[in-house]
Amino acid sequence: MKLVILDVDTGIDDSLALAYAAHSPELDILGVTTVFGNITVEEATRNTLVVLDKLEREEIPVYAGESKPMSREYTKPFARHIHGEDGIGNQYREPSERQAQHMSAADFIVQQIQASPGKVTVVAVGPLTNIAKAIQTDPTIVNTIERLVVMGGAVTVPGNVTPYAEANIYSDPDAAAFVLTSGMPITLVGLDVTMKTLLTGVHLDEWRRENSALSVFLADMTEFYMGAYNEIVTGGKGCALHDPLAVGVAIDPTIVRTTSYAIHVECTDPDALGKTTGKHDTAVAHIDVALDVDSSRFLKHFLSRIV
Ligand code: BDR
Ligand code: CA
Repeated sequence: MKLVILDVDTGIDDSLALAYAAHSPELDILGVTTVFGNITVEEATRNTLVVLDKLEREEIPVYAGESKPMSREYTKPFARHIHGEDGIGNQYREPSERQAQHMSAADFIVQQIQASPGKVTVVAVGPLTNIAKAIQTDPTIVNTIERLVVMGGAVTVPGNVTPYAEANIYSDPDAAAFVLTSGMPITLVGLDVTMKTLLTGVHLDEWRRENSALSVFLADMTEFYMGAYNEIVTGGKGCALHDPLAVGVAIDPTIVRTTSYAIHVECTDPDALGKTTGKHDTAVAHIDVALDVDSSRFLKHFLSRIV
């Protein structure tokens, strides 16, 4: 089993990623860390606890992380138009009986990597602020983490919050630039591939027919996200499984085809803020950028695990 930490800004596709990971026997989830992004970090933590309760995985500890970008004011408004006012498609009802742990997200990440050198994979599907803070806390983790799988960036395709930038990178470009040049082994699962993995209304109907408390919750929640995607992004073709694809890559890296690049994150030019540019310089290229995905294999696997 692979030891993993999921770093999330929960979020509807984050919730789907949590469900996919929680139902995957290949993964041993050490804990879930939260960060601002789609919503506030307090809301992300609250939602994470609720989703883990729905998944009946109350034993998984949750660690709250950073509430703002590492070195600038917020650059991006929260994504309530995509994820709902509460971040989970307006399905939040009451708080979990559990609470987040007292340790910070960054300290937990460092502690776990130190405890199992070479064995911990972190799947980061929100802004990279917690990961940057973990590296600042203990720079040696860049050599002792097994791998960081990042949902973020748009290297060969347009962005989704600006013509150039993807939301997770845009939310904290300085943290992204820091992490992506840290030397850590990283697989970048960006819009280049995640916009090729779409869920449709047919799938939600199947979850509804399953008629379990979990499947109905996931269908209700995802319906909001799908509505927003159909209207604003895909013109009715469905919603992108961004964060679940990063989990899929952690389970089975062969689901994507990667090319090694050095990644530059634009942190200065206000028009291109958060743009991820790939440089094919073999001397410094060390980020495995996913450029192609076996969409049907991934979707089949995701659907077989989710409800
Ligand atoms: C990413 O941004 C967030 O809105 C999603 O949860 C995903 O992690 C997609 O750009
Ligand atoms: Ca996310």
